[in-house]
Amino acid sequence: MNELSAEQAIGVFDSGLGGISVVRAIIDLLPHEHLVYFGDTARVPYGSKSEETVIRFAHQISSFLREKQVKMIVVACNTASAVALQTLQQSFSIPIVGVIEPGSEAAVISSKNKRIGVIGTASTIRSGAYRTAIKALDPEMEVTDQPCPLLVPLVEEDWPHDGVVRQVLESYLEPFKFQLPDSLILGCTHYPYLKSIIQQVMGPSVRLVDSGEETATQVQKVLKELGLLNHGNGDPGRHKFYVSDFPQKFEETASRFLGRSLDKLFKVELEVLESYK
Ligand code: DGL
Repeated sequence: MNELSAEQAIGVFDSGLGGISVVRAIIDLLPHEHLVYFGDTARVPYGSKSEETVIRFAHQISSFLREKQVKMIVVACNTASAVALQTLQQSFSIPIVGVIEPGSEAAVISSKNKRIGVIGTASTIRSGAYRTAIKALDPEMEVTDQPCPLLVPLVEEDWPHDGVVRQVLESYLEPFKFQLPDSLILGCTHYPYLKSIIQQVMGPSVRLVDSGEETATQVQKVLKELGLLNHGNGDPGRHKFYVSDFPQKFEETASRFLGRSLDKLFKVELEVLESYK
């Protein structure tokens, strides 16, 4: 790892554009860091795919980012973090941070009644990654988890946060009315965009844990420990975005997620991506 330097960029990847919520959190906390983002817009969603496939995609993207000389990789996608983080950490010699552990740690710290709820994609919940991480930190924690597969398309489509979205959330969040967690992990890149309506449905006493925000803090901690934080002489960081496809409504969704337009945006052909191991 000794060839790494503070001036190198941080690589961040997600199955699509949802991971931009993590990019936003990193920019807010570490404005001088350069970032290279990869969104696998041609192959999204990962949440309904097999572990084997998600692991393969995660390796290809990490190789791509490594070739861009990043000093660290952030797996912004909860599904990829849940199933591929360990094998990525074994295969690459730079620090690789996922979203599951930072989110779990924050929930364990915040929970007073020792009941934590987790919502995520079907693959994330099936993997049990949040449950395992929470139990490893505190075996007494009671965890209730709930897959919410309809939420990603509803966020992508920018459905108004009432009517259908409220109805869907009320149904998904029903089990938590019995478990009564005091902390709920938003275990998917897209859920922070539904924060206020989730808070309304859960009630004001439940703390919503945004794994992306917690991950930004973890990124800062790891870089600091390794002496790799970029202070940039006060200059703002440069941000480059790569995607594997420009889907319909791409510009609109991307800028909505980032809160501004994505100026440095490039497309990577799938054949190029698939040539990486
Ligand atoms: N990025 C995914 C996650 O955080 C959600 C979208 C997908 O299913 O690929 O789990």
